[in-house]
Amino acid sequence: MKVLRSSRAMSAWAEERRLEGRRLALVPTMGALHAGHVALIRRARRVADCVMVSIYVNPTQFCAGEDFEKYPRVEHEDVVLCKQEGVDVVFAPRNLYAADASTRVEETVLSRDRCGVSRPGHFTGVATVVAKLLNICRPHVAVFGLKDFQQCQVIQRMVRDLDFGVRLVFVPTVRERDGLAMSSRNRYLSEEERRLAPNFYRILCDGVRKGMGEKIIARELEKVGFQVDYVTHSCGRLCAAVFLGSTRLIDNVPLKKEAEGD
Ligand code: PAF
Repeated sequence: MKVLRSSRAMSAWAEERRLEGRRLALVPTMGALHAGHVALIRRARRVADCVMVSIYVNPTQFCAGEDFEKYPRVEHEDVVLCKQEGVDVVFAPRNLYAADASTRVEETVLSRDRCGVSRPGHFTGVATVVAKLLNICRPHVAVFGLKDFQQCQVIQRMVRDLDFGVRLVFVPTVRERDGLAMSSRNRYLSEEERRLAPNFYRILCDGVRKGMGEKIIARELEKVGFQVDYVTHSCGRLCAAVFLGSTRLIDNVPLKKEAEGD
């Protein structure tokens, strides 16, 4: 398995595979890979001949005061995992932006509510880096996790609006045995916070099952120690973001049972 650092080398690798007639899938990540990412990689393998994983902690999607500096960077472990999963190439650039970069991709509707309120500019950072990764890697398919539901919506809209010509596959959230959604940020949780964290998913599921309103669900979350950012219904899902100490957690559950999505 190759680890490529430059956009040019990555594009050349992808172009060669395309000329050989291979179907390429890209799994964009910020590293600190966990079982959720493994599910994306395995799904990518099912729909393509070659799997590319990008590992890049994208500075433009972090807002001022967020955890960009302390975001976990464990590239060696990530590369070992990718090798074990039969990934064909890891794209791990040191930097993706020219010093005088002055162009951004901004989605102006779906990115505005929910996380867009408390993280202004976040989705512009995401859309811009995903656009760059799609242009560099030229995949036939790109695979994302539904835990970041709003991110999936924004990327889907961007791909449609800007005619990227890539098929998007969205993979259901992978959870710990106690229900907590897998996330690279879970490693920030103290022992006590980790013990409380599964209540997030439990309360959202209860909320859906009992048809509770958003305000009541928010109150239930606060009762067990979460500071609620938002609880809202959107596109057939109950979506929420909470803080546990200084760690921000997001999750969402479908209002109706759903089939594996793409
Ligand atoms: O979901 C993520 O890990 C990131 O937002 C992504 C899509 C890799 C863009 O940096």
